Amino acid sequence: MLNGKKVIFTGIVNDDSIAFVAAKKAIISGAEIMVTAFPRDRELTEEAAAKLPEKVEVVELDVTDPEHLEALSRKVGEEWGRLDGVLHGVAFAPKDALAGDFLELQPERLDLSFRTSAFSFASLGRLLKEHASPEGGSLVGLDFDSTGAWPVYNWMGVMKSALESINRYLARDLGPFGIRSNLVAAGPLNTRAAGGIPDFDALLENWEMRSPMRWDPDDPEPVADAVGFMLSDLSRAITGEILHVDGGYHAMAGALRRDAGGTSGGSDG
Ligand SMILES: NC(=O)c1ccc[n+]([C@@H]2O[C@H](COP(=O)([O-])OP(=O)(O)OC[C@H]3O[C@@H](n4cnc5c(N)ncnc54)[C@H](O)[C@@H]3O)[C@@H](O)[C@H]2O)c1
Repeated sequence: MLNGKKVIFTGIVNDDSIAFVAAKKAIISGAEIMVTAFPRDRELTEEAAAKLPEKVEVVELDVTDPEHLEALSRKVGEEWGRLDGVLHGVAFAPKDALAGDFLELQPERLDLSFRTSAFSFASLGRLLKEHASPEGGSLVGLDFDSTGAWPVYNWMGVMKSALESINRYLARDLGPFGIRSNLVAAGPLNTRAAGGIPDFDALLENWEMRSPMRWDPDDPEPVADAVGFMLSDLSRAITGEILHVDGGYHAMAGALRRDAGGTSGGSDG
């Protein structure tokens, strides 16, 4: 599906990372990949990268640092001469932005969060535009549906709204170059990032009550498969899209079951 494609994967910190599973599948599908590491996480990323089916290069990238972005762009130019796809698998918010009193947070607490979780999607779009061939390319980001307010997630939900909006503007501005921009909106998955969300279990319980299909928070493979589809030519006419890989949760208007244990909310009559 990705034969011969040159793709950069950001957001790998361990083998639970959604980006790790997507990278593994991309290699198996024939892609040549580069993995980036947030400097603070470099050792962990290298450990994870060593578990990929092929030896891959790990390049330092703090997505908020213009010098890192420039260095990565130079590297792509020198070593690959072309770039076909990028996965944005990066997010950050301080704990007090993820839960607690939504109304009390000071705006400075969100500066880094916005630059890491939302603006950087456009930075990676620019990188792809610099190196895409005339055939174009595919930029993919990882979203958590932000059409409604969650019991937790707070300002990170706002960041995801920004990401969704940026996705639409990138589709507008990259489309003429044949470059697509899309998001995969995943259901809750047990990753390191999820572990940092206070009361993440409340989201898992919501899924148990409302998702029409069984949702396994320990299985990122369906999300990784959708990323592969979005990176591939199979999605060649899709852009500005948000593809929900969430067991159908987003399409339901409310809970289908009364409790997270799975008691049916229906009646016999
Ligand atoms: N886990 C979930 O439930 C879930 C659901 C929907 C969407 N997502 C999204 O998926 C993406 C990947 O998260 P994950 O769940 O795989 O967790 P993860 O913890 O495995 O990945 C997060 C990554 O962000 C990186 N990072 C943080 N700040 C960075 C920076 N400044 N520069 C470069 N990298 C930086 C970390 O090194 C890490 O690799 C995030 O955008 C997240 O919001 C996660």
